[in-house]
Amino acid sequence: MAGAIATPPYRSLLLYCRPGFETECAQEIAALASGDANATRGSGFVEFRQVGGHETVDWRRLIFARQCIDAFACLDALPRSDRLTPIMAALGAHGQRYVDAWVEPPDTDEGKALAPFCKSFGNALIGALKKARLLDPAARTRLHGFFPQSDKVYLGTADPAASAPWPQGIPRLKFPREAPSRSTLKLDEALLVLLSETERARWLTAGMSAVDLGAAPGGWTWQLVRRSLRVTAIDNGPMDRALLDSGLVTHLRTDGFRYRPKKPVDWLVCDMVEQPRRIAELIAQWLGEGWCRRTVFNLKLPMKKRYEETQLCLARIRAVAQDVRAKQLYHDREEITVFAQRA
Ligand SMILES: C[S@@+](CC[C@H](N)C(=O)[O-])C[C@H]1O[C@@H](n2cnc3c(N)ncnc32)[C@H](O)[C@@H]1O
Repeated sequence: MAGAIATPPYRSLLLYCRPGFETECAQEIAALASGDANATRGSGFVEFRQVGGHETVDWRRLIFARQCIDAFACLDALPRSDRLTPIMAALGAHGQRYVDAWVEPPDTDEGKALAPFCKSFGNALIGALKKARLLDPAARTRLHGFFPQSDKVYLGTADPAASAPWPQGIPRLKFPREAPSRSTLKLDEALLVLLSETERARWLTAGMSAVDLGAAPGGWTWQLVRRSLRVTAIDNGPMDRALLDSGLVTHLRTDGFRYRPKKPVDWLVCDMVEQPRRIAELIAQWLGEGWCRRTVFNLKLPMKKRYEETQLCLARIRAVAQDVRAKQLYHDREEITVFAQRA
């Protein structure tokens, strides 16, 4: 008699992403590990089942993923009247303790409708975990319950040191009323996501110099001025009056592709709307020539072959930079944001 074939236990990497970028998110993880991706367009996440073992991936290594979870269970057809019992049974079977627990929907319209449920269910789950003594401040992982729909949950863990420290992988930033444009949130988020706290403190200090290409009306410049940097703002468009009055901004109405600094600057930031390859080439020139030490810039992605274009542009930057970090931020739309520092 043939022996029963045991079903391997469920394991997957669950990657949260911007809805519409599931394909790029899947392409990226497939380039790092071998496995099968389940990527439904518009779902806001990718499920990746690895073959030949399971390895955790630090979320910082991924451009298109806002969060990376090690999922160990996927429960569907959850009864509306009691979702907690099967979830607690799965957690009991898994036999781990957790430092915290987050219940999250995807960043989609359906997910927004699920947000109130996730909030109240999160409170109920925390209560049940405490009662079952499964919460432990000394534990090494955080529990995630990801609900793509109200009757289905993925349960997984993340190491707080290797995962995004915000529910849904989204830092909730407040728009500062004095800032001249909403774009300000992109640079604010970039500095928060792409740099560590120590790097922010060391690399953005009063008196440092910066150039902002495509600066008008001044949202990015505002973030630099807020940190007391001196900024040369390059744009043919008008800059915000209050920013100019700060005494820290020099506005030059000239072409960002032609402008050259008289002396090297600490920072180059660039938010010009241009073909990504042209921007990558320009930034590579600034880094290669030593005109700036560090940079944050945006790559506006094309409609097609977005992953391939991203890789091509980043390869150009890597050729001249020692440290390149890229992310599709929550405040990015059809674009990604990159940090690099000179080799
Ligand atoms: C997305 S907006 C920048 C918004 C700005 N970062 C902010 O936070 O307010 C793009 C800007 O790039 C400028 N721009 C586009 N091409 C440029 C070029 N070749 N040289 C200088 N500025 C350029 C446009 O005039 C526009 O103001």
